[in-house]
Amino acid sequence: MKILHVVGARPNFMKIAPIMREMAKYPNKFEQMLIHTGQHYDANMSQVFFDELDLPRPNINLEVGSGSHAWQTAQIMQHFELALMEFNPDWVFVPGDVNSTIACALVASKLGVRVAHVEAGLRSFDRTMPEEINRLLTDQISDLLLTPSRDADKNLICEGIDPNKIYFVGNVMIDTLVRLLPKAEIRWPSLRDQFQLNNYILVTIHRPSNVDNSESLSEILAALVKISHYIKVIFPVHPRTRSRISTLNLDKSSHNLVLTEPMGYLDFLALQKKASLVLTDSGGIQEETTYLGIPCITVRPNTERPVTITEGTNCLVDSKSAALVEAIRAALINNHYNNTKYERRPELWDGKTAGRIIQVLCEEVM
Ligand code: UD1
Repeated sequence: MKILHVVGARPNFMKIAPIMREMAKYPNKFEQMLIHTGQHYDANMSQVFFDELDLPRPNINLEVGSGSHAWQTAQIMQHFELALMEFNPDWVFVPGDVNSTIACALVASKLGVRVAHVEAGLRSFDRTMPEEINRLLTDQISDLLLTPSRDADKNLICEGIDPNKIYFVGNVMIDTLVRLLPKAEIRWPSLRDQFQLNNYILVTIHRPSNVDNSESLSEILAALVKISHYIKVIFPVHPRTRSRISTLNLDKSSHNLVLTEPMGYLDFLALQKKASLVLTDSGGIQEETTYLGIPCITVRPNTERPVTITEGTNCLVDSKSAALVEAIRAALINNHYNNTKYERRPELWDGKTAGRIIQVLCEEVM
């Protein structure tokens, strides 16, 4: 069976890596090819993940780079079509909800190549999020919908997707976390020394709704400055966020607010594991903190990953400075007085999802 895997942006790499590793165990069954669309291209947004996740070098890099959504999606489609026709796979695997996901799914679907969507069915029900549009459309045209949680199955059924195409396999990103956590933990002592860490909160913010609007970005930064007077704040800054921060007047008086370059997978995982709290607007980090049992505050009005709230450590908070400071304070106090480690994990977030995906492919749909 010929499988073409697509990656494009940072959150894709940790989802495709375990599937490729698992398929590589059966060389007589699978011929694999990896295409990188080049949506993310900075070394610390892309190459570092290939190195740390042991992802094979992509067979082709489409090198599309940045642009408007329409431009980027169209560029990926044009370039991907040629590569797809040349390799002529039986299946195209697309992960997540980024522009590369919908672009490649659409091209494959129109050429009659079957599409497997990894992380299907997640819904924020907020169509102002570009990722929600990508999710809805990718799921409609996919032939195999691999879901990370039961709510995702329900969403797909409600949208009229044929139940025979839906398989609840669990969260494949957790496979990567489980495999690499021991390696990440080895990095901890040098990170602790480098940033002089004791108690700290870890921050990532990059959603357009938070950073493209200078009012909400200013509110978030004001909250971080305030909190940093009480606890160290480590903030690896996404390129989109960095360019927006540079246009604002960030209060640099607090040495406890540490802005760094985006980090690799292992360092960031090590920092999550030891954090008192994580503040984010990312999708994957809501899931990783739930698995690790670390309190997470998500700066968004909604989430496409509700199990991280109902069965995990996540909560949603408004981007207003006062609300954020209060939520962080309350979470830190709660953490301080509550020493019992949070150990509930969503169903099938067990590090074995890639194995189930291969089983579905071999036994159910081949
Ligand atoms: C994309 C995904 C988002 C995901 C995020 C993870 C979509 C619609 N969004 O958002 O779901 O959570 O990736 O990071 O696909 N840039 C660089 N270097 C890079 C990549 C980007 O400098 O390697 C800059 C460019 O100026 C670009 C901006 O970041 O314009 C945004 O990049 P883009 O890929 O368009 O979207 P993200 O915000 O990264």
